[in-house]
Amino acid sequence: MPSHSRSAEIFRRNRRVIPGGVVSTNRAIQPEIVFVKGEGAYIWSADGERYIDYHAAFAPHILGHNDVYVNDAVIRCLRDGSSLFGSGTTVMEGRLAELMCDHIPFLDSVQFLNTGSEATYEAIRVARAATGRDHIIVTQGGYNGWHNDVACNLMTPLDVLGPRAVDEYAFHAISAGIPEAHRKLVHPINFNDLESVKIVCERYPVAGLITEPVLQNIGVVPPAPGYLAGLRQLADRYGFVLVFDEVKTGFRHAFGGYASLSGVAPDLAVYGKALANGYPIAAIGGKQALMDYFVHPDPARRVLLAGTYNGHPVPTAAAIATLERLLENNGEVYAYMASLGRYLEEGLQQALSLNGHDWVISRIGSAFCIYFMNHLPADWHDLAGHHDFALDNAFRAALIRSGIYFFPLATKQCSISAAHTRSDVDQTIDSIVRGLNGILEPRAAARI
Ligand SMILES: Cc1ncc(COP(=O)(O)O)c(C=O)c1O
Repeated sequence: MPSHSRSAEIFRRNRRVIPGGVVSTNRAIQPEIVFVKGEGAYIWSADGERYIDYHAAFAPHILGHNDVYVNDAVIRCLRDGSSLFGSGTTVMEGRLAELMCDHIPFLDSVQFLNTGSEATYEAIRVARAATGRDHIIVTQGGYNGWHNDVACNLMTPLDVLGPRAVDEYAFHAISAGIPEAHRKLVHPINFNDLESVKIVCERYPVAGLITEPVLQNIGVVPPAPGYLAGLRQLADRYGFVLVFDEVKTGFRHAFGGYASLSGVAPDLAVYGKALANGYPIAAIGGKQALMDYFVHPDPARRVLLAGTYNGHPVPTAAAIATLERLLENNGEVYAYMASLGRYLEEGLQQALSLNGHDWVISRIGSAFCIYFMNHLPADWHDLAGHHDFALDNAFRAALIRSGIYFFPLATKQCSISAAHTRSDVDQTIDSIVRGLNGILEPRAAARI
């Protein structure tokens, strides 16, 4: 059993000066481990333990930790005298924008920010500015950032959520401090349910619908065939702006994100995470007529886009290098990661028999999640009603004890990187099988 005594000491010390000891509340998790080093597929704790990492810091590390090509680009740009100038444009911003617009057909232009939350905030603002409407539709079980419009209805417990909605759920804030008036403008609906979009659009003047094209903050919940195309049709019919939040799926499933795999073009898309392999940058892009709201000739209709750190050279250099690596040899990185994903999935199918316990793996390329239920979830309500959360949490804790880092919270998505190897996956399969058998056997024994 690994000791986390040094980690505990650091947590104790930091709690005195940082509320909760963590700087993003979702990082407060058991076991409390402080990580001090990351390289490729591995992370090391302050206590000297090495883990094969599938958490990937909530998914950005698509090339693995501290990718040499990316880090070299960062070091080079600093050595060359790049700095944050905060005036005019830079060559690097243009290069990054071209890389995105040249390779993602539905991006006429892009803008850069620092975080996914900023990008989703701007997308909703543009939708409201362009339509002159205030209401927005969000997805139950989706996460689009921390701001007032979207800090709601993520992993809402079923006893709070109530029965499956045929139209919309009540707004269940995941933060205090969201004004009451604001909540009335936000309509959470079930993923994979086109009928509810129609109902909400008949009831309210809807400016936009924002959704992850695959729900990846509750594992990997894929869209049903035709769902995204159906959203596209409804956006055209009701005149709302369709926003794909590709902060997690963008550059992860394909260079053009899940939109390019589905063949459905949103009006706006937002990116973050894998865009710069762990460096902080985000982007919003899409149709010119919408992007032009950032430079609307009428100041009253112009959408404010401002940020001291927008286009900072460090993350911008990292993003350019990451995208260059992802494009190399016709995207061979994607083929490699998908082959590892397939290898893991097939290995588990062969090795894992849970004596009557249901399990199913949901995987798209390098992103996967193991659910303990008898079917792939269609949405959060389905997942919350069928998944064995206690088993999932115990499973993740057991994996961490054996040196495999799945984020220790039930239903959180796992990410394979280009730095993982077959041997890492072999070790992972072995640990999963042993871990689950170890948990389930004593439980079975306890029942006898
Ligand atoms: C799909 C999605 N959108 C938006 C965000 C917010 O991004 P950030 O944490 O960079 O603000 C996240 C973060 O996890 C996310 O997963």
